[in-house]
Parts: sequence; structure tokens; C-alpha cells
Amino acid sequence: MRTAQLATALTGLLASAAAQSSTEPGYDAYPNYIPSTIPSNETLSFGQHYAVLNLDLINGLVAPIANTTEGEAFISCTSKWINAVAALTPKPLTFFSRIYFSNSHNPEISDSTPFKNVGGSLGTASSNATMIYPAFHVNETAGDVVIQKTRYYAGAGNGLEEILRAQRIDTVVLSGIRTSGVIISTAYRLFDLDYKVYVIANNTIETPSDKPAINTNILEGILPKVPINVITIEQAMAALNASGPAIY
Ligand SMILES: *[C@@H]1O[C@H](CO)[C@@H](O)[C@H](O)[C@H]1NC(C)=O
Ligand SMILES: *[C@@H]1O[C@H](CO)[C@@H](O)[C@H](O)[C@H]1NC(C)=O
Ligand SMILES: *[C@@H]1O[C@H](CO)[C@@H](O)[C@H](O)[C@H]1NC(C)=O
Ligand SMILES: *[C@@H]1O[C@H](CO)[C@@H](O)[C@H](O)[C@H]1NC(C)=O
Ligand SMILES: *[C@@H]1O[C@H](CO)[C@@H](O)[C@H](O)[C@H]1NC(C)=O
Ligand SMILES: *[C@@H]1O[C@H](CO)[C@@H](O)[C@H](O)[C@H]1NC(C)=O
Repeated sequence: MRTAQLATALTGLLASAAAQSSTEPGYDAYPNYIPSTIPSNETLSFGQHYAVLNLDLINGLVAPIANTTEGEAFISCTSKWINAVAALTPKPLTFFSRIYFSNSHNPEISDSTPFKNVGGSLGTASSNATMIYPAFHVNETAGDVVIQKTRYYAGAGNGLEEILRAQRIDTVVLSGIRTSGVIISTAYRLFDLDYKVYVIANNTIETPSDKPAINTNILEGILPKVPINVITIEQAMAALNASGPAIY
């Protein structure tokens, strides 16, 4: 009985979602998988002034989920994406963020800093937990920028915004861990700074990774409403072909 009521309620929700889909992006595939806000038959291009942001892919965050089914899929998709971007000539501006503190005193936080409770124990630049997870390849010779951060937002306390401005970037493509942390925080902030924001759904993950509901709620419910574009890895890969040559 309860199941039937739930099913009826869901059908209602789905019908209203479908009714909205002509004016709002994307919801045709709900609830089977995370739907893209860009129709699958549309050719997507990031233009020429785009930057790729690979956020908080550090050992301390990635290693704990690496053995889970969701974690393996996340690592596989994200590393394929990073490698595909690296294979482009010219290579677009690519950022990797790391969470670490300037020295063992953790001067960026104090006992009263809320972020201390979530990231306060990761360590300094030389701590293994703060280094980029080995599956993800950084190439500073090729122009990759590694930024230090000590809050959720990717640009907190570093040169991210300055570099985006100086390089005349207008579009950013986000991957990273976790969706309710750096991804949502960065997506909102860069949206408000007038960037066109894309989040690659497959390249995000919530922790613990066996609780995907939060990820789904953010990617299907919250971000499209902003609106921030949520796309699949397949669309992102195809978009690389349609974009560029990147200017950096
Ligand atoms: C990426 O996500 C989409 C939508 O959720 C799914 O259909 C597709 O199979 C995923 N791709 C990979 C390589 O996992
Ligand atoms: C994509 O599909 C929709 C719905 O089937 C259709 O209305 C639209 O014209 C198509 N767009 C392109 C570019 O083919
Ligand atoms: C650093 O952490 C990664 C991921 O957990 C692990 O594979 C690697 O062996 C560690 N390296 C050292 C030097 O401890
Ligand atoms: C993941 O699995 C490997 C191989 O079974 C094991 O050596 C490693 O300790 C596991 N890592 C975690 C974080 O559970
Ligand atoms: C890093 O980038 C440089 C310059 O593009 C290139 O010559 C080199 O092969 C790259 N290194 C790796 C490990 O891909
Ligand atoms: C991108 O273009 C290359 C070369 O034309 C092609 O081999 C590849 O399949 C294309 N990738 C996608 C995702 O469309």
C-alpha cells in the first residue's frame, strides 16, 4: 500500500518534471541515471576560452573510496578525462587543487574555523594525504596549475580567480571529490562570477560513496536549478572534439 502510494506520488513528480522539461533543461532520463542538462543530441562545445578544474583529487580523500564500486568508476572516468584533456594540442588551462596547510601549525585555520572539522587533519604540502592520487597525472611542464586551498571553494586563498581572469577564461569544467564540498561550493561561486559552469556527473562522488543519494540530489536537483550544467563524461569527451583550439 505504502509502495503504491509512493509510486503514485513519484509518478506525479515525474509528470510535473516532464511537463517542465520544455522550459527547463534536462530531466528526461530521471530516475534511471543522472540526466544531463544538455540534450544528448545537441553538440556541446566549451568554446576556446575554457579551463578544466580537477578538484581535491588527493590521497586523503580518494584512497578511502578507491576500493568501492562507486569509487572505482569515479577514478576510472576522472583519469580518462584528465588524460583526454592532456592529449589535446594546445592543452587547455588545467587546474588541480590540493588541500594542505602552509606548515605544521596549520596557520590557515584555528580552533574556531568551521573547516577545521572537515579538513583540519590532512597535513602540509609534504604529507602523503595531501598529494594528488597516483591515478591522476599532473603535468606542470604542460601548463597545469596546482593550487593550494584550505576551505571548500577551489579559489579560497589562492590565485584561481586571478589566473582565470588573466587568461580570459569564460567556461569552466569541473571534476572532483566531493560533490557536497568543493564541487557545489566552486560551481556556485564561479557561476556568480559569470563563468559558464559545467560539472561532469561521472567525475564527481559523494562520501561515503555507498550513499549516492546526496550526489544524485545535488546533480539532478540543485545544480540544474541554478542553472549549472551537469553533463556526462561521454558528452564531455565529445565536447573536447567540438571545442577549441583552446587559448591559454
Ligand atoms: C556516465 O554517466 C551516465 C549518466 O549517469 C551513464 O549513462 C554512463 O554510463 C556513465 N559513463 C561511464 C563511463 O560510467
Ligand atoms: C533533439 O531532440 C529533440 C527531441 O527529440 C528535438 O526536438 C530537437 O530538435 C533535437 N535537436 C537536434 C539538434 O537534433
Ligand atoms: C600515498 O598514498 C597513496 C594512496 O593511499 C598510496 O598509494 C601510496 O603508497 C602512499 N605513498 C607513501 C609514500 O606512503
Ligand atoms: C584496497 O584493496 C587493496 C587490494 O585488496 C588493499 O591492498 C588496500 O589496502 C585496500 N585499500 C583500502 C583503503 O581499503
Ligand atoms: C608533459 O608535458 C610536456 C610538454 O607538453 C611533454 O613534453 C611531456 O611529454 C609531458 N609529460 C608527460 C609525462 O606526459
Ligand atoms: C574525437 O575525435 C577523434 C578523432 O576524430 C575520434 O577518434 C574520437 O572518437 C572522437 N571522440 C568523441 C568522444 O567523439
